[in-house]
Amino acid sequence: TEIKTIAVLKGDYIGPEIMAAGLAVLAAVTKNTTFQYRLVALPFGGDGIDQAGDPLPAATLAQAQASDAILLSAIGGPKWDQAPKRPEQGLLALRAALGLYANIRPTRISDALVARSPLKPELARQTDFVIVRELTSGAYFGEPRVLAETYAIDTMAYQVSEISRIMHKGFRLAQRRRQHVTIVDKSNVLATSKLWRRVAREVAQDYPAVTVDYTYVDAMAMGIIARPATFDVIITPNLFGDILSDEAAQITGSIGQIPSMSIGESGPALYEPIHGSAPDIAGQGIANPMSMIHTVAMMLSESFGEKQLAQRVTAAVAQAIAAQVVTPDMGGQATTEAVTQYIVAAVTQPAAEGVR
Ligand code: NAD
Ligand code: IPM
Ligand code: MN
Repeated sequence: TEIKTIAVLKGDYIGPEIMAAGLAVLAAVTKNTTFQYRLVALPFGGDGIDQAGDPLPAATLAQAQASDAILLSAIGGPKWDQAPKRPEQGLLALRAALGLYANIRPTRISDALVARSPLKPELARQTDFVIVRELTSGAYFGEPRVLAETYAIDTMAYQVSEISRIMHKGFRLAQRRRQHVTIVDKSNVLATSKLWRRVAREVAQDYPAVTVDYTYVDAMAMGIIARPATFDVIITPNLFGDILSDEAAQITGSIGQIPSMSIGESGPALYEPIHGSAPDIAGQGIANPMSMIHTVAMMLSESFGEKQLAQRVTAAVAQAIAAQVVTPDMGGQATTEAVTQYIVAAVTQPAAEGVR
């Protein structure tokens, strides 16, 4: 069998802590299976600035491009906030260079998580939606972009082609789920949003079995709290998706467990937790590794078709949650290491542990 190459961007602050956890679970779950891989560690983000003078060194981009999948933990933090090129710029450049225009961010409140949600159980129960965030255009990339002494400019721009392709991604995903799409925009004010909604209506014609709702982003921010279980696939522009996905994460109890996948038309996908480098808790050994472990599961499933291995990983995480082996962000006392060891043991001996 072919050996897969996985680019590993270990990241900053809690990045290396949770990456180590994710890789330990990857090694454990693939042991004695036919899935074979090789890891290629590449400097990136703050680590890229420190090691190679750039948040996205040319060699990192080239090797990431040549890999079968890219695993990233999280980058950035106060150490580089005043750098001429911040780590975050490297992340945006990587997404753009690889054409990763679709960012998939799931929110699922499993039965084990209902009690940990800040929402009332009757609201939280059966929440299972996916945010499809446009990732390589909109306010993050529009020109001109100016930061002068007395004024600043960001530009929010969208091409029909950019809207159309993210819509198709979202609608096709809905076809494999509960056939419902929510289009998020601010079309009562923004020109880009008027275009967003027009293109959404056109693309929707191609998917007659999918029901569509159109929602303004402010009402959507409310809807995620008020009626999370009613959403299936949510398609949103870049900036709104960034904001709504952190909000959505919190209704599961902690952002520290949510993975994401960024995909383009071709080439390797990028897998990363949705949260940042959590400088406030770095070095304490208490970062929640579940986001990175879920990210590894997503990679196994989506880039490598290893659905059973992915399922074993997600079942093992659920088992840790049910056993209360969770970090402080989820209300527990376990360390990163303890959670990781529990999950490693569970994926290694799923039967003996009695999954779920
Ligand atoms: P953050 O997501 O790093 O942290 C927000 C809060 O969530 C903090 O209280 C943090 O402790 C907590 N948290 C996040 N992940 C956690 C985990 N795995 N376990 C336990 N708690 C966790 O957001 P921030 O503080 O606004 O940003 C910190 C840095 O990360 C910034 O430089 C930002 O630009 C960067 N960032 C990077 C990414 C990325 O690499 N994809 C994403 C978001 C933010
Ligand atoms: C995310 C992050 C990034 C974004 C930053 C670090 C550039 O917040 O992945 O959600 O805004 O896209
Ligand atoms: Mn974000």
